[in-house]
Amino acid sequence: SHRIMLGPLVAAIDQGTSSTRFLVFNSKTAELLSHHQVEIKQSFPKEGWVEEDPKEILQSVYECIERTCEKLTQLNIDISNIKAIGVTNQRETTLVWDKETGEPLYNAIVWLDLRTQSTVERLINKTPGRNKNHLKHKTGLPISTYFSAVKLRWLMDNVDKVHEAVVSHRAMFGTVDSWLIWCLTGGKSGGVHCTDVTNASRTMLFNIHTMDWDPELCKYFGIPMEILPRVRSSSEIYGLMKSGALSGIPISGCLGDQSAALVGQMCFKDGQAKNTYGTGCFLLRNTGAKPVMSDHGLLTTVAYKLGRDKPACYALEGSVAIAGAVVRWLQDNLGIIGSSEELEKLAASVGTSYGCYFVPAFSGLYAPYWEPSARGIICGLTQFTNKSHLAFAALEAVCFQTREILDAMNQDSGIPLTQLQVDGGMTSNRLLMQLQADILCIPVVKPSMPETTALGAAMAAGAAEGVSVWSLNPEDLSEVTSEKFEPQINPEESEFRYARWKKAVEKSMNWET
Ligand code: G3P
Repeated sequence: SHRIMLGPLVAAIDQGTSSTRFLVFNSKTAELLSHHQVEIKQSFPKEGWVEEDPKEILQSVYECIERTCEKLTQLNIDISNIKAIGVTNQRETTLVWDKETGEPLYNAIVWLDLRTQSTVERLINKTPGRNKNHLKHKTGLPISTYFSAVKLRWLMDNVDKVHEAVVSHRAMFGTVDSWLIWCLTGGKSGGVHCTDVTNASRTMLFNIHTMDWDPELCKYFGIPMEILPRVRSSSEIYGLMKSGALSGIPISGCLGDQSAALVGQMCFKDGQAKNTYGTGCFLLRNTGAKPVMSDHGLLTTVAYKLGRDKPACYALEGSVAIAGAVVRWLQDNLGIIGSSEELEKLAASVGTSYGCYFVPAFSGLYAPYWEPSARGIICGLTQFTNKSHLAFAALEAVCFQTREILDAMNQDSGIPLTQLQVDGGMTSNRLLMQLQADILCIPVVKPSMPETTALGAAMAAGAAEGVSVWSLNPEDLSEVTSEKFEPQINPEESEFRYARWKKAVEKSMNWET
């Protein structure tokens, strides 16, 4: 039935922190035709440590591709119509592997990992004026546990196999995009070792002005430049798939997941913004051809560069470490819910936190504070508080954290956002969306096709192969259907709750002293 209206198909590998997906879109309509998703295990070997298995990540990608292709065949859709594949990924997560054996030399150190906290504190203490923004003029980033450079340094200092591989010129470093593209294009027999400008801009080794690896930064962190992948644009042919059902298809798009969502939401103009609710929560605002430095704790990052000869676009980013992760924590660590749907029901059953505030600073606090020593707290408890109130407080925490980064964004740009475009897994939670509108005091707008991250990567991949996806045409924008959540509580009530939240945040930063 689909066959008649089918244009060329474009696909995306979406390798997130919590799961991997493969999705196939019709380029004529941007319609999602089929997809498959596999959860990714996280291990917490020590307090604050977060790791994932690189081989499991790779396997999950192959599995998602194969299963999606089977589903397409069942739908009578010929998989030979797939013209291009894009890769989008959890950013910063750090891997090192051996180029001769193809073997990972340690688990992937996930972006949320805190093992480098003491190193980060030492580095900051050594800077003039104890300034965490010492490298910001080049990188757009504060010195933090979040970014790849310190994780890579830890691997070189603490894992013998990594050290040996570096010394004997066999080591390759990469974020998840690089690991996947290298493996998918042939691995030890001719795999392409590359990354794109958006992923590179999250390593702290990349100069966002020269758009290349920076020798001084590499020296600062003691990273040999030969282990770094080649930096490419976000839309060009990197290589061809070497095996599986899609063998021979070009991989021609690559973007960090937050950049991909910005593209998928079609925020191509200066001032346009989106907020994605995944494991963490990330608000990005396009600032056009100029990198704008924040005075309010936001990051400056590369938004995209859609072609070798195309200009780079930059964004201001507010990063929140814990959003969806708090749901998983309530489920796995406290066991008070069995699923995320249950969380919504539980919270909706009370409709208030009854004065309970939950600051989930599990990985310290990111924007706008950048305080690695912050820890999670739950406060305002009484005899009356129960798990439903806690569930509500957890959802509110996601909204308050977004409010903080939106405020910072508005202060930096001087032009307040009048509505917020959202996407990501948690946006299926209608209570959360309503709460978000209430706490921001502006409408929240959610597209009917929530897979904007994958769409963005598929669009970038298609563009390199001369396949333009319907959504790339801004004139079609009016056809995008969406749902709008209007604020329903009065602003005074909203401000009162927000002020309480701020107090709780202060406590999470100072509870040790
Ligand atoms: O910076 C980390 C970010 O890219 C992870 O995204 O969707 O896995 O929370 P997500």
